[in-house]
Amino acid sequence: MEKFVVNGGYPLTGTVRIGGSKNAVLPVMAAALLTGEKCVIRGVPRLSDVTAMEDILESLGANVKWDKRAGSITIGAEGQLFPEASYELISKMRASFLIIGPLLARTGDVKIPLPGGCAIGARPVDLHLKGLSALGAEIEREHGYVRARAKKLEGAKVYLDFPSVGATENIVMAAVLAKGQTILENCAVEPEIVDLANFLNSAGADIRGAGTDTIKVNGVKELKATDHTIIPDRIEAGTFMVAAAITHGDVTLTNVVADHLKPVIAKLKEANVSVSESGKGLRVCNENGAGTVASDIKTLPYPGFPTDMQAQFMAMLTTARGTSIVTETVFENRFMHVGELKRMGADIKIESRSAVLEGVKTLMGAQVKASDLRAGAALVLAALGAKGATEIDDIYHIDRGYFQIEQKLNGLGARIERVAAGAATAEG
Ligand code: EPZ
Repeated sequence: MEKFVVNGGYPLTGTVRIGGSKNAVLPVMAAALLTGEKCVIRGVPRLSDVTAMEDILESLGANVKWDKRAGSITIGAEGQLFPEASYELISKMRASFLIIGPLLARTGDVKIPLPGGCAIGARPVDLHLKGLSALGAEIEREHGYVRARAKKLEGAKVYLDFPSVGATENIVMAAVLAKGQTILENCAVEPEIVDLANFLNSAGADIRGAGTDTIKVNGVKELKATDHTIIPDRIEAGTFMVAAAITHGDVTLTNVVADHLKPVIAKLKEANVSVSESGKGLRVCNENGAGTVASDIKTLPYPGFPTDMQAQFMAMLTTARGTSIVTETVFENRFMHVGELKRMGADIKIESRSAVLEGVKTLMGAQVKASDLRAGAALVLAALGAKGATEIDDIYHIDRGYFQIEQKLNGLGARIERVAAGAATAEG
């Protein structure tokens, strides 16, 4: 087990390149199961969640080759796929449930462990299963597994009670080879959905309306080989934008799609942080002595403020002048970072789904623990702005969604060291 030792107080300056999107590459890797031909996926971030998905695809009989130099993977799911995934592999990552749609479309009879909950919530999959049964699948739940069977999936009209990202992705993937047309209403509109549809259409699928709340899929006979580049990770970008703001730095991000970051840019500007688009990318500057101003955020499905940026933004608001209210509407338990931020001196009170913050002058370094991916990222950001040293334990959570985050941050002037958890540190 490893930890980060962060010495805070250094303004970040310079340029950082954002990697490919974790939440786009995971469904695209699962979608590669839909064809027996080779799919090349470029711009793939070397994350532990990507390695986990790679292991799952290989356990199903697909072969996955990384080209480290090119930063691409090639997936060949030719031949007969094994229609069962192991609990040991699936339970490592919730996104592994994304294999059920494509695997069912390909094999007609699958058995997948039901994903458990996680730190941020119960994370049910009822909407995924509602969609698959609407397409004609027979669904059984037995001993913690889901069994789904369908000789041939048939297009249908499906209304999603909540615009679930994963359910939208699973149903679209299952519909691609179904007989006839599927109409998915009240679906998710995240950029990652559009990227998945672009990948599938480049392989011969017929998907229209991705990015809107109604997606139409006309089933096709088969998909062909394709070569696709993943969109940049808007959440990694947002995280580095907040890092620049919290350290009163001046950082330019390259390989970003500003259009995917509208709510984050708007809220940073509201907090008195300057964000501008230059030819190179997005520049975030917060060098003025005035510091950040309190602002309220409420997480919502896209294009609202992203729940995956809530913890990071809260880290910045702990020292913003005035009172801020952070409301989390997407997940029921996504305030695990609050207790740790309070240990660093933040003044935060939780009132049901909202956290009320009174800005304090500065946070103080402390020993803290990451509980989940984005809470861990928030603690790194808080430590960057804090006075003194912070030790962050359980950083494996952070490695799930950020590739060598400490190297990128140190490249901008941060002082972060990755050490074995038991190691004595300069301050310890
Ligand atoms: C995706 O998770 C992302 N993960 C999450 O990012 C992100 O927070 C989330 O979308 C929302 O944007 C990936 O893309 C791999 P949902 P997903 O289905 O698909 C409820 C990160 O930090 N729901 O949109 O699981 C659910 O309980 C991760 O990168 C049902 O009730 O999210 C939650 O309250 C964390 N029934 C809400 O919908 C269902 O069948 C949003 O879940 C499915 C979901």
